[in-house]
Amino acid sequence: MNILILGSGGREHALAWAVKQNPKCDRLIVAPGNAGMAELAECADININDGGAVCVFAEENAVDFVIIGPEAPLAAGVADDLRAAGILVFGPSKAAAELEASKHFTKAICDACAAPTAGYGHFTDAEAAKAYIRKEGAPIVVKADGLAAGKGVVVAMTEKDALDAVDDMFGGAFGGAGAEVVIEEFMDGEEGSLFVLCDGTDVLPIGTAQDHKRVGEGDTGPNTGGMGAYSPAPVLSAEVEARAMEEIIKPCVAEMARRGTPYEGVLYAGLMIKDGAPRLVEYNVRFGDPECQVLMMRLGAQALDLMQACAEKRLSDAQVNWADDHAMTVVMAANGYPGSYEKGTVIKGVDALPQTSTQMCFHAGTAMKGTDLVVTGGRVLNVTARGPHLEAAQKAAYDMVDQIDWAEGFCRRDIGWRAL
Ligand code: AMP
Ligand code: GLY
Repeated sequence: MNILILGSGGREHALAWAVKQNPKCDRLIVAPGNAGMAELAECADININDGGAVCVFAEENAVDFVIIGPEAPLAAGVADDLRAAGILVFGPSKAAAELEASKHFTKAICDACAAPTAGYGHFTDAEAAKAYIRKEGAPIVVKADGLAAGKGVVVAMTEKDALDAVDDMFGGAFGGAGAEVVIEEFMDGEEGSLFVLCDGTDVLPIGTAQDHKRVGEGDTGPNTGGMGAYSPAPVLSAEVEARAMEEIIKPCVAEMARRGTPYEGVLYAGLMIKDGAPRLVEYNVRFGDPECQVLMMRLGAQALDLMQACAEKRLSDAQVNWADDHAMTVVMAANGYPGSYEKGTVIKGVDALPQTSTQMCFHAGTAMKGTDLVVTGGRVLNVTARGPHLEAAQKAAYDMVDQIDWAEGFCRRDIGWRAL
């Protein structure tokens, strides 16, 4: 099977690593890829948000299966273009990707199927939004409706912060994304993520994870794309997961099908759990990054079989072979991230790290410059390990971190603290 993976982050490196272990994989191409992916796949320089270009490339290279990593090509309809061209693809249609692209859309789906989530109001006018905030009081959550690269959510602990957030969003702080806002009830509890594959009809859970969004130790400081993650998430016990499947995931997937926009691909549910009851915070229509790294570390080669079964609408026969293990990933980022940071600094020691089925350093923002591994982004390496328990995974991951020589980078030293 010839496989093309779209994307260039740690998520896609982990996908490529898992896929490559499967004997079904003959030729592996990644677009655009990064320095880590270049070690196990061919890198192709195509515009992954251009469905036409992706289809032409796939046809010219006899690609049998395309796996779409990030949300941008999904929101641009690249999966639709591939399906129309008769190319097998893992990833939802543009219409189904609305579950991530529009918070108001997701709220309406939850309403239609009575899935538990925060109460909310939807506004296209700042004064009406402010009146709602004054009526409800703080804490309260203000969200820009569209894709805002994870920065469109303000959890306001005071009424003033909430009112200011409304001004910012209608003032264009988030571009077109702020022309509509959703204002939500603040939900208290512990967060966890549940990942399921959906083939339009059937759903298959493929793991849980928790991430650390804040840049600083003890979960302090500004939000980032994620500084580390681990799987499984203890907060998502078998009972809580079963409730989330029955009360949230299955009803929403059925509602998408009922509307004629069946959901096909991985669905990532962000959940808030309080007293054993899950409520939906948000959906993403892709794997989380860095959550994917820990899921792939646990699934290994079977990830390809599962994604293929999903794309071929055979999930009712598919099953996950679980090992009773734990995985952790520690993100190494450039000093200054998530603010401004330096590019082009040189990282040493990565090529001497173990590359095994239980220890891998996935690359995100890296490139080769001559023989040097250099930094091209904010989140740079995802040092990932697996073990019989979380402590073992954590120790193995930090042992690898300690072998990396990169003065201009940093990581959090407390990934997993909530679970340990
Ligand atoms: P989102 O982009 O919707 O996942 O929001 C980003 C983060 O904001 C979430 O991971 C939560 O930590 C927090 N958040 C979002 N909505 C709520 C809510 N209704 N109540 C409490 N926290 C929330
Ligand atoms: N790590 C959070 C995300 O991928 O959205």
